[in-house]
Amino acid sequence: MNSPSHVLRCTGCGERIAAPDAQSNFRCRRCGDLFEVEYPWSEGAPESEGAAAYQAGRPAPRNRPNPSALRYLWQERRTSTLDIDQSGVWRFRDLLPIVPEDRVITLREGNTPLYEMPKAAASLGLNWLLAKHQGMNPTGSFKDTGMTAALSVAVASGFEWVACASTGNTSAAMAAYAARAGLRSMVLIPEGKIAWGKLSQAMDYGSTTLQLRTDFDGCVRVLAEIVQRAPVYLLNSVNPYRLEGQKTPAFEILEQCEWQVPQHVIVPGGNLANCSALGKGFAEMRHLGFIHRVPKISVIQAEGANPLYRSMRENGGVSLEPVKANTRASAIQIGDPASWKKAVRVLAATGGWCEQVSEREIALAKAEIGAEGIGCEPASAVTLAGLKKLVAKGCVGKEETAILLLTGHTLKDPDYTIKYHLGDLLTEAEMVGAGEAELARHASLRHAPIVLDADADAVLRAMDTMDTMDTMDTQTRQVPPA
Ligand code: F0G
Repeated sequence: MNSPSHVLRCTGCGERIAAPDAQSNFRCRRCGDLFEVEYPWSEGAPESEGAAAYQAGRPAPRNRPNPSALRYLWQERRTSTLDIDQSGVWRFRDLLPIVPEDRVITLREGNTPLYEMPKAAASLGLNWLLAKHQGMNPTGSFKDTGMTAALSVAVASGFEWVACASTGNTSAAMAAYAARAGLRSMVLIPEGKIAWGKLSQAMDYGSTTLQLRTDFDGCVRVLAEIVQRAPVYLLNSVNPYRLEGQKTPAFEILEQCEWQVPQHVIVPGGNLANCSALGKGFAEMRHLGFIHRVPKISVIQAEGANPLYRSMRENGGVSLEPVKANTRASAIQIGDPASWKKAVRVLAATGGWCEQVSEREIALAKAEIGAEGIGCEPASAVTLAGLKKLVAKGCVGKEETAILLLTGHTLKDPDYTIKYHLGDLLTEAEMVGAGEAELARHASLRHAPIVLDADADAVLRAMDTMDTMDTMDTQTRQVPPA
């Protein structure tokens, strides 16, 4: 490439650096904050300041992308047989020109479905409710969209080793893409705190899987030291290229809504990069003239891993006190989120909210998403649980369109699901305060397996019993009087 396609801009102090000058931990040398990728057409890029503003290594001014031409091109690519066209990330490569096309490592990620959620919409009194299922990616989570981008940069930059700390999904995504690229990969995961489905993926894809006796935040600290001491490319979401891939679901959502902007997008919050990535995606769409406003992006955290929620409530997002995280939604069991400042900016820029939800609320919401025939992992279910609160507070109206970001596949954590249906998941203490209606709701959603003799009569009797149950009043779960 004659001139670099982008620079890295510090989201804290605004310093711009050429991509090869980034430190191995992707922190700004001047202020320690995180970078984002900036193109000549990005909002606030110095293009308009004229050539004098461009220092060595800064990208040359380019023509602004044309929305009508790009909309057409992106649709056209869906019918192409080229792998980069079939990818729901690289289909949009015009807006993420971070690597030469021949260096892209893709598993045809993205292009995930946008489902209607009629049952949940009805029970919330909303006209519409949609779910963007990012669990339908190649390794079962939204992380694939970011990993194809950042791992392609690792390849193009000549690295042999890549590494991440993970609560599960990032490790599976990184291991898979590294295997495709022929790179060596190392995952640091908290021992005993990630779902087996994910651990099995990292092992299968050939990653060096290290289970550290600590939590996710401890794994992050160890990895920060490793990347300073060895030539290892860091693939956690502090890597700004991850966010370039993770912004593309915003483009897909707009395509799938025929460019009608939804009022709300609801996202689970862990390390807080995903809400930032989606915020960047929607902001770019508005800046380039694809849309005229952006959705409100709201972030939902588990009560036991709620540092952003506390920060917003206690000081409006000015500072964040790390917490000792504890939730069964293992993917978002994060107490010291790296991208919290970016998330605060997205909440402020879009007018969204931050909510917290309890273990009981997460379990119920997960079963409700399952009952739609969709399913998701526990961390994704916080979105529906949080939406209930936003509706109750009047933040989301009946006529408005809300989209839940379901970030991970239900098969990630079958232990959780099975325990829920057997009634073994929630403790008595966690059930304190559940009213009759809520208990009945749990009862109507639980479907424990029934063990029977191998006998047709027994099976038919079981069907009869199920029919009787279905005629019960779903609120009280009492058999109606004959
Ligand atoms: N949902 C799922 C399923 C996740 O795996 C994660 C993060 C999140 C939501 C939160 O996204 O961190 O960008 O706010 N998982 C990480 C991992 C950290 O290692 O897989 P975030």
